[in-house]
Amino acid sequence: MTWPLLVLRPDDAGRMGRLHMRCFDQPWSAVSFRGMLLDPTILSLGIEIDGRLEAFIMAQTVAGEADILTVATSPDHRRKGLAATLIRALIARLGERGVSRVTLDVAEDNTAARALYAAEGFGEDGRRPRYYASGRDIPVDAILMSRKLGI
Ligand SMILES: CC(C)(COP(=O)(O)OP(=O)(O)OC[C@H]1O[C@@H](n2cnc3c(N)ncnc32)[C@H](O)[C@@H]1OP(=O)(O)O)[C@@H](O)C(=O)NCCC(=O)NCCS
Repeated sequence: MTWPLLVLRPDDAGRMGRLHMRCFDQPWSAVSFRGMLLDPTILSLGIEIDGRLEAFIMAQTVAGEADILTVATSPDHRRKGLAATLIRALIARLGERGVSRVTLDVAEDNTAARALYAAEGFGEDGRRPRYYASGRDIPVDAILMSRKLGI
C-alpha cells in the first residue's frame, strides 16, 4: 500500500492537535502546532485517508541536524505502515536538504515507537535517566537515538 503524502501547513494545526490528543496522554495544542508550523526550521508531513488526517510526523532542522519532535498514527490505522512511510519520506526530504543526521528521543516503555525506530535504522546513543516523569507513577528514561544520512 502506498500513501499519498502532504506537507502540513499552519492551517492544519487544528486537525494535528485533534489527532495528537488521540495518541498521547499529554498532547500538544493546536496553538502549539500552529506556532511550530510557522517556523521555517520545521518540516511536517502527513497522511490523509478518506480526507482525514490519520498520521503525521514533525521534525526541526538546526545546523545541519534534524530532530524528530513527534510522530503519531491514529489508533484506527496502526500497523499499516503509515509511520514507517512518514519516516522514510521525511528522511528522503531531509537528505535532499543536506541534513547529515537525524535524532530523536523516546520513552523507554514505548515499545511500539522503539520497534519502529529500530526498524527504520535508528541506533541507540544513550539515555536521559528518569526524563519522562509527568503522567507516570514512576519516571522512565528517555532513550536517545539517531540515524546518519547520506552513507
Ligand atoms: C508509534 C506509532 C507512531 C507507530 O505508528 P504505526 O503507523 O502503527 O507504525 P507502522 O505501521 O509504520 O509500523 C512500522 C513498524 O514499526 C514497528 N511497530 C509499530 N508498532 C508496533 C507495536 N505496537 N509493537 C511492535 N512493533 C511495532 C514494527 O516493526 C512495524 O512493522 P510491522 O508492522 O511490519 O511489524 C503509533 O503506535 C503511535 O502513534 N503511538 C502513539 C504515539 C507515540 O508513541 N509516538 C511516538 C513517540 S516517540
